[in-house]
Amino acid sequence: MVDIKVKKVNSGLKGTVIIPSDKSISHRSVMFSSLAKGKSIINNFSNGADCISTMNLFKSLGVEINRTSEKSLEVISNGILKPLKEELDCGNSGTTMRLCTGILAGQNFNSILFGDESLSKRPMQRVITPIELMGGSITSNDGKAPLKIKGTALNGIEYHSPIASAQIKSCVLLAGLHATGKTTVIEPYISRNHTELMLKYMGANITTLNNSTTVEKSELETRVIDVAGDISSSAYFIVAGLIIPNSDIVIKNVGLNPTRTGIIDVVKRMGGNIEILNQNTVSGELVGDIRVKYSQLKGCSISGDDIPRLIDELPVIALLATQADGETIISDAQDLRKKESDRITTITNGLNSLGGNIQEKPDGFIINGKTILKGDKELEVFHDHRLAMTYYVAGLICEKEILIKEFQWVNISFPEFEKLFNNLF
Ligand code: S3P
Repeated sequence: MVDIKVKKVNSGLKGTVIIPSDKSISHRSVMFSSLAKGKSIINNFSNGADCISTMNLFKSLGVEINRTSEKSLEVISNGILKPLKEELDCGNSGTTMRLCTGILAGQNFNSILFGDESLSKRPMQRVITPIELMGGSITSNDGKAPLKIKGTALNGIEYHSPIASAQIKSCVLLAGLHATGKTTVIEPYISRNHTELMLKYMGANITTLNNSTTVEKSELETRVIDVAGDISSSAYFIVAGLIIPNSDIVIKNVGLNPTRTGIIDVVKRMGGNIEILNQNTVSGELVGDIRVKYSQLKGCSISGDDIPRLIDELPVIALLATQADGETIISDAQDLRKKESDRITTITNGLNSLGGNIQEKPDGFIINGKTILKGDKELEVFHDHRLAMTYYVAGLICEKEILIKEFQWVNISFPEFEKLFNNLF
């Protein structure tokens, strides 16, 4: 248990921060390299606990994975998974569980996916339903983990996903890699497309047209994968730079895939001073640097196709909105209740306890700004790394010190978080 105290910073943030590896891309780099025959190299792999869960899980599936440096891996596989044990631990990671469901459903062996207390409460029916439509067989605890997957031959389907979710889409597409015929996923709005880009980069037969992606049975080829920095991790620095007076910071090596850059659009909508510099493409993904300065902000509306493009940033965007003049309305974000915590309730209660004026809606928030955050409170993070990081940034502008309990949950995605903030003070 690591409880930390955070107090107001008295001068603006200044300097440069190099953002560590993207969690979503890191997961996929190990998973897909494990399915390719030969040796793959992954540079800038995430040190977050979630991605380590994925790495260990694929080791349990018989894949040789070696660390060649602090942040680089080599993955050596013959393209066929050979499990060393049946029970596979996904830790706290929804991405690991949902994507591996798709990978394991079409194998010629059985497996059981389990996770920690928080992951065991999260909905898995959303991936069980399409896999069953493909002919797969999964037994669950009433739609939750553990998932007992009976490996079997799968058929391609056309699946209309009820939710814009990259985890559902990826699960079905990965099952489609081993299924007969074509597998198509159509989603209501476009969710992050790292699976599509990386599968294409590794030679899979995959095509996307608007909201619809089709994959056919494909052998993946090994590659060198350079993982971009995580825009979701950079969100805490973007918001801190915008709300702490006199700040001017550059956030380097950030993944700028348009399916992830909703936060940049929202900051612009709010009148924030944000600039993109040095754009280029790395391993099929757009990357660049982001410069932010302290700004006077105004409230805005966030809904519909914005939501999947900033779903993980909504807790810290809610904090941002407490510092914007007027009303910010966030709608169509009901899936936020299904994350590591019910983020609509937890963030409303947490930020209101500090002095925010947030009204909870079934599908989002109404946030009235600008409010002074008084602080002088203890906050629980409910096993949720994104709450821990949002409260840390809030603490930097609170009038009085706050205490964040169990701050170690930050390690799920961003172990370097505090150290990188300290460089900017
Ligand atoms: C992820 C997709 C999103 C996101 C999660 C990572 C991914 O989840 O919230 O942190 O890597 O595919 P959903 O697909 O459930 O929206």
